[in-house]
Amino acid sequence: MKNLIDILDLSLDEIFNLIETAIKIKNNPSKYMEKCRHKKLATLFFEPSTRTRLSFEAAMYELGGNVIGFSEAQSSSAAKGESVADTARVVSCYSDIIVMRHPKAGAPLVASMNASVPVINAGDGGHNHPTQTLTDLLTIYLEKGRLDNFTIGFCGDLKFGRTVHSLISILCRHKGIKMILVSTESLRLPSYTVMNCINKNNIEYIETNDLDSVIPELDVLYMTRLQKERFTGIQTRSSIDGSYILTPDRLKRAKKSLCIMHPLPRVNEIERAVDSDPRACYFKQVLNGKYIRMALILKLLEIE
Ligand code: NCD
Repeated sequence: MKNLIDILDLSLDEIFNLIETAIKIKNNPSKYMEKCRHKKLATLFFEPSTRTRLSFEAAMYELGGNVIGFSEAQSSSAAKGESVADTARVVSCYSDIIVMRHPKAGAPLVASMNASVPVINAGDGGHNHPTQTLTDLLTIYLEKGRLDNFTIGFCGDLKFGRTVHSLISILCRHKGIKMILVSTESLRLPSYTVMNCINKNNIEYIETNDLDSVIPELDVLYMTRLQKERFTGIQTRSSIDGSYILTPDRLKRAKKSLCIMHPLPRVNEIERAVDSDPRACYFKQVLNGKYIRMALILKLLEIE
């Protein structure tokens, strides 16, 4: 595999190998300190980011490599009208691997077709976010000890949440997964995701707007913020009733072993009081993101 554009580019074995490598790195980081000596990672971020960009940068530094790049489109030649294809060709001359985030779905794919070095999709519009999915899978594996046979609830903005789309698409390849999709009508999972992934793989699922009635069933709860930057008029009007807020009170009915996840940034979907609940995994998820990205960089650079 040369690029990572869609999580489905990876086989389940490849994903498992990445998880194993990430765990090895986590347990023995000093062994990996020099692996990327003299290698350069370019971060091309045409859309805001804190975790994804900084975790890739931290990952590369912890592998002994260097980082170049930009964190907003306005500071790149895109502001002068340069195409994604040209930017990718140019940056290939300066770097060994490219990480790209872009507001347009498909932009990292175009970049990968024009770059001569590996390209990683760090989020393209409301479409896909494969490295967040690797982070999520590592977290589920570490918390639950397995990637199959559990019930997962997705709550919030299922229409525009790219992390939800990527995670659902890969979980559909695992056995014994039941999905509970909690959202308002206007923020339901896009029908093509339901058709192409959920129905095609005969995944058991329900759609509901009532979090309280399903919370006792869940092994994993994946909260999301409303992706307001992608809303059209219809969603803006319903954004108020589209917000679900996880509170300690609501969690009283949940399993003791529940794993609460959120790709972050959080706005108000999870009350701060939940952070001290042992079931809150979202900050562990952030740290896991760095290790799995280290594993991914090593794989794409064919170092490990
Ligand atoms: C997510 C994203 O960018 O899609 N953030 C992230 O990368 N962890 C989720 C979000 O922005 O809501």
